[in-house]
Amino acid sequence: MSGQTLTIPPPAATPARRPAAPRMLTGDRPTGRLHLGHYVGSLANRVRLHKQYESFFIVADLHMLTTKNSAEDIAAVRRNATDMVLDSLAAGLDPAHSVFFLQSAVPEVAEISLLLSSLVTVPRLERIPSLKEMARDAGKREMPFALLGYPVLQAADILSVKAAAVPVGRDNAAHVEVAREIARRFNRRYGPVFPVPALVHGDVPSLPGTDGQAKMSKSLGNAIYLADPPDEVRRKVLRMYTDPARTGPGVPGTVDGNPVFAYHAAFNDRPAEVADLAERYLSGQVGDVEVKEKLAAAINRFLAPIQERRAYFQAQDGLIDQLIVTGTMRTRREVQRTLTDMRNTMGLTAIFTEFQNHARHAPRAEGAPPTD
Ligand code: TRP
Repeated sequence: MSGQTLTIPPPAATPARRPAAPRMLTGDRPTGRLHLGHYVGSLANRVRLHKQYESFFIVADLHMLTTKNSAEDIAAVRRNATDMVLDSLAAGLDPAHSVFFLQSAVPEVAEISLLLSSLVTVPRLERIPSLKEMARDAGKREMPFALLGYPVLQAADILSVKAAAVPVGRDNAAHVEVAREIARRFNRRYGPVFPVPALVHGDVPSLPGTDGQAKMSKSLGNAIYLADPPDEVRRKVLRMYTDPARTGPGVPGTVDGNPVFAYHAAFNDRPAEVADLAERYLSGQVGDVEVKEKLAAAINRFLAPIQERRAYFQAQDGLIDQLIVTGTMRTRREVQRTLTDMRNTMGLTAIFTEFQNHARHAPRAEGAPPTD
């Protein structure tokens, strides 16, 4: 940058305003209620960590648009976002320590995403397997442009509040890696604006579906929801996929890779009971029904306090709406600060400011082209 215009302060070498506590950001697309897979993959970590950070939770409706953008999908966002926030509070997030915000109401995120998109290549994004899977699962024969940019938009979310930690499930790990690369590249190229966000993994690798597929997901119809009542949980568990080679209670079965035992390991608070069931299962001395009845009981014990909290928060009329509105306004202020910081550091602010300064100081120009 050249220029005799010194009315613009040079970009600061360090962020002008350091966040008081390190920040955490994570969230979900508003496509439905939260289930046990969300709990294991990410919610448990959120609950465990959220008070150690200034914690932001995104309702990522712009991300939803990359695969679901019908008028009906969009009309369902309010309901789904409400359920998601309610489920999060039910799982144990303290509303006094959690900032919930609606992504589409923070338009500066889109500008941040655009600025970051120059810092990553198409082949880098094409190598991310989760994007191809999402395209396939959504029935797309060709990759939507926005879906290829999904991790860039996610990087924009994360960096827009200068988050230091991002607790996500396994399927989002590659996206956080892109955010880390982009943060480093930005800092190196323009100046130190962003902390490099750390990925925080869930405890259990990933929870299989009730049908034995690798992943629990709403779209696959193989999920147990945090809000499922006890009889619904029992019904789903009794119909769960289990060792298919086991034709009767006297036949030795496999515990490894058996989703029923994966759930026991994740949710049963009675390890002695689980060990006993596993032993008898391996030696062919227990029926599937007993294993499943005990699992249903364990999941219902696990869900009882969650559902009690859900009812408590749900009974407070307008609470979720207020949390989302105040959280979104609060986040928007932070994001606006970050965007200004980025534009200043990149030298973008100065371009127009210099035009303005010169325009102001120049003698009043005629503006009309010469005519012959
Ligand atoms: N990609 C996340 C999902 O699978 C949602 C999301 C959007 C997100 N932005 C984020 C998660 C930022 C963590 C951080 O639904």
